[in-house]
Amino acid sequence: MPDTPLFIPVILGTPRQGRQSEHVAKFLVEQVAQRDRLETQLIDIRDMAIATNDAGESLKDPEFSATMERADGLIIVTPEYNHGYPGLLKHVLDTCLKEYIHKAVGLCGVSSGPFGGTRVIQNLLPVMRELGLVTIFYDLNFGNVQQLFDESGNLIDKQTYIRRMERFMDELVWMSTVLKYGRKEVSLEKIQ
Ligand SMILES: Cc1cc2nc3c(=O)[nH]c(=O)nc-3n(C[C@H](O)[C@H](O)[C@H](O)COP(=O)(O)O)c2cc1C
Repeated sequence: MPDTPLFIPVILGTPRQGRQSEHVAKFLVEQVAQRDRLETQLIDIRDMAIATNDAGESLKDPEFSATMERADGLIIVTPEYNHGYPGLLKHVLDTCLKEYIHKAVGLCGVSSGPFGGTRVIQNLLPVMRELGLVTIFYDLNFGNVQQLFDESGNLIDKQTYIRRMERFMDELVWMSTVLKYGRKEVSLEKIQ
């Protein structure tokens, strides 16, 4: 095991007013922060002043880029909008590339429908691959999300979601650890 903690930030993938995904992202940050040897941080795409008159790495935000560079893995919380991901989430993700390569990502779908964002996750998978991110075996799904949190934004059935998160986090930590080792110790040249 590496001596330094893994850094796994959580990206909140919608700027929408009244977004339920914010409760989900805050819950995940709280849970990740409680794990041993993990550091995390909430990245709210609403707070990023990214222009919309261009696209891709020419819009790179130095702070977001540095955070992605430092990250060993990522959790992306995405609501399902017409079975897809929010346009602004894609716009923000597109501003980096080399920062993501050979790093692990876990996806968390949020929806008002019962399927917990399974369709948005399916649609996000090819994007993750093209960005060089390595997706894990498990997802998190928060379906019927409007019924899951109380008025203060606290998850009502915390234990159920903590249980579901364990498998997801175990897998994400394993993949992040293996890839961190690989990025440092296994040169692409050596194996050719
Ligand atoms: C433009 C738009 C499209 C949506 N499309 C879907 C959808 O395809 N399936 C679904 O279950 N919910 C859909 N919803 C509802 C969201 O999933 C719901 O708002 C949920 O709370 C997660 O999004 P939020 O974080 O913005 O609140 C849509 C919401 C918006 C604003």
